Amino acid sequence: MAVKTVLITGASGEIGHGLIQALAEQADVRVVALDLHPMADAMAAKCYRVVIGDILDKALIESLSAAHDFDVIHHLAALLSTKSERQPMLAHKVNVEGTMNLLELAIGQSRLQGREITFLYPSSVAVYGLPSLDAKRKAGKVKETEWLTPRTMYGTNKLYCELLGTYYSEHYRQLDADAVQGRVDFRGLRFPGLISADTVPTGGTSDYGPEMLHNAAQGKAYPCFVREDARIPFMAMPDGVTALLQLAAAPAKKLTRRVYNIGAFAPSAGEILAFTKKAFPKAAVTFSPDQKRQGIIDGWPEDVNDDAARVDWGWKPAFGLERAFAEYLLPAITRRYTK
Ligand code: NAD
Ligand code: SER
Repeated sequence: MAVKTVLITGASGEIGHGLIQALAEQADVRVVALDLHPMADAMAAKCYRVVIGDILDKALIESLSAAHDFDVIHHLAALLSTKSERQPMLAHKVNVEGTMNLLELAIGQSRLQGREITFLYPSSVAVYGLPSLDAKRKAGKVKETEWLTPRTMYGTNKLYCELLGTYYSEHYRQLDADAVQGRVDFRGLRFPGLISADTVPTGGTSDYGPEMLHNAAQGKAYPCFVREDARIPFMAMPDGVTALLQLAAAPAKKLTRRVYNIGAFAPSAGEILAFTKKAFPKAAVTFSPDQKRQGIIDGWPEDVNDDAARVDWGWKPAFGLERAFAEYLLPAITRRYTK
């Protein structure tokens, strides 16, 4: 059996956690994990190699490339939206320059190995920017080509990196006499806010969803920083991980786009609270909107049109809102906090 080597950057984060668990179940995969921060021993034990380091460290990236032949790169490392808005210079460095370093690693690897390297990139609904609540309500489920006018540093970084990845796949060094085209097979997913039962997010703006639930499970009061009627798309973490694995495995000839929307459910903050209260009736949640973070949420779409993903590579979330709470979030979160 040919073993595939998969590089995951940002491996100690929320998606990394889910992705490593899923890849560990595949016998023919070995994971090389890279992150600024260490991961729990149980997670590290599932990896072939764990490297603590910075994606901005070019010498480190080159040494990884010299040591391994990667088949697939999941480039997850990034600063999320709230943190990026507070530190735009750092966000540009990590989110854009860091992504360039990984695309360079991918193109270098494709030359060394003489084949395409699959590059998975988690983009975000933050690439969209709706100018008003009225426009947001009228827009409904946005298509991939609509409203690409992000209003945040993070969304701007993500949209540009989608274009960078597309450039590396389709036009890289197009003036060279021996121009090598299509050696990086860049595939992007515009994720909604992800909700995990195993980890709690930091630095994002969709964090109010998971924070509400995790605080309720611990019996802690939670002042929610958006209005009760605030609505954006969300997804259960297992579906987010499945989407990455499905898109990575999809035959290139089936793909009609480089970047896809994926949707699952799109509750208001009030609806998330209603589901939370079914399991934790004493949940002490108040709505105390932070006007500035609320402004970011108001600029993101209510929901996304994911027809292309469904048609091209069979995307279908396993979890709608009701099932996500009943069969994934509530049982796992209850177990987590009653250990
Ligand atoms: P996370 O914050 O939990 O994980 C990000 C990881 O990147 C962290 O472990 C962090 O230490 C690491 N990192 C940051 N800077 C680094 C650097 N310079 N070098 C090496 N590692 C670095 O985030 P996540 O939820 O796991 O998100 C992973 C990716 O998915 C990100 O690109 C994010 O933008 C994207 N995404 C996430 C969501 C979501 O709701 N979680 C939604 C859309 C897109
Ligand atoms: N969930 C992410 C954030 O809030 C969006 O990509 O930053």
